[in-house]
Amino acid sequence: MAAGLGAEPLSFSAPAKVNLCLAVRFPPQDGYHQLDSVFFELPLADRMAVRVILLEGGRPASVTSAGTVVSLDCGALDVAVRDNLVFKAVEGFEEALGARLAGPDEALLVHVEKNIPAGGGLGGGSSDAASMLRACCALAGVLPDDQRVQRLARSLGADVAFFLQGGTALMTGRGDVLEEALPAFPLPLVLMGESRGLSTPAIYRSFDEDPAPAGSALELASALRGFDPQRASRADKLRLAQLCSNNLEPAAFKALPSLRKRVERARADEDVLHALVTGSGATSFAICEDLDAARRFEQRARSYCSWTRVC
Ligand code: C5P
Repeated sequence: MAAGLGAEPLSFSAPAKVNLCLAVRFPPQDGYHQLDSVFFELPLADRMAVRVILLEGGRPASVTSAGTVVSLDCGALDVAVRDNLVFKAVEGFEEALGARLAGPDEALLVHVEKNIPAGGGLGGGSSDAASMLRACCALAGVLPDDQRVQRLARSLGADVAFFLQGGTALMTGRGDVLEEALPAFPLPLVLMGESRGLSTPAIYRSFDEDPAPAGSALELASALRGFDPQRASRADKLRLAQLCSNNLEPAAFKALPSLRKRVERARADEDVLHALVTGSGATSFAICEDLDAARRFEQRARSYCSWTRVC
């Protein structure tokens, strides 16, 4: 083991994402939709600390199929440990690599400080899972680009593979195949939060009843490659922003009419180039020309959003 009992905790940042473009195809195959998406990693992040400790009584813990005792603390997150993607990442890693991450007298202690709202289309659970996989790799002395780890990431959830990569990326397949790493999105975003989350499977089901036409993630990817932030005019920025789209949006609007109102209000704001829902919602985001515009818009958006954040 590269890091183990008595070592300093391994700490990881587990960033949120937005889908700058989400182009979902119809019909689904085997319960999943093929899609093209430009993912963008945000500075908003959960924090994860992982360490191996001597087994002690009194701490709530679950045991993986390989026999490792895992004590997982995700604060107020209301998910049973065995259903938590972080636990599934540990169990899956041990199975896929034939490894034990802690000895019989030890426990794996995992603490996650949740900063990313759940059910918001920001990928918090998937990002935590990817960070846990990084921690497992560090503990077992395996590289995260090991094919077994990459396969496991895809099996844990469609977004987990992106979080192992990070940055800005064009993803295809179920959203789990890295097509191309891209330059960072050059315009500031303002996240707009909802007080309630939306269920991803329910939004996909609603999409299937009335599939909306998809935009082109490939076009956005190509525009990002050619974009020169130093020379870009407002018109260039507007063109780039308007290539961002999400065809799950009508289904999210149907499930949550207040979300439509919020996004339409943002779109009508003079400081906003474009606004859209991320993933299956319920978080949305506005794209602004520069940081001053983003800050001005955020001031106004605070009055009609549950929370806001300039990224
Ligand atoms: O992979 P993940 O667990 O994040 O997906 C949650 C649900 O979202 C899936 O069970 C499926 O209903 C839907 N989904 C889909 N097509 C995708 C990704 C997710 O239909 N490409």
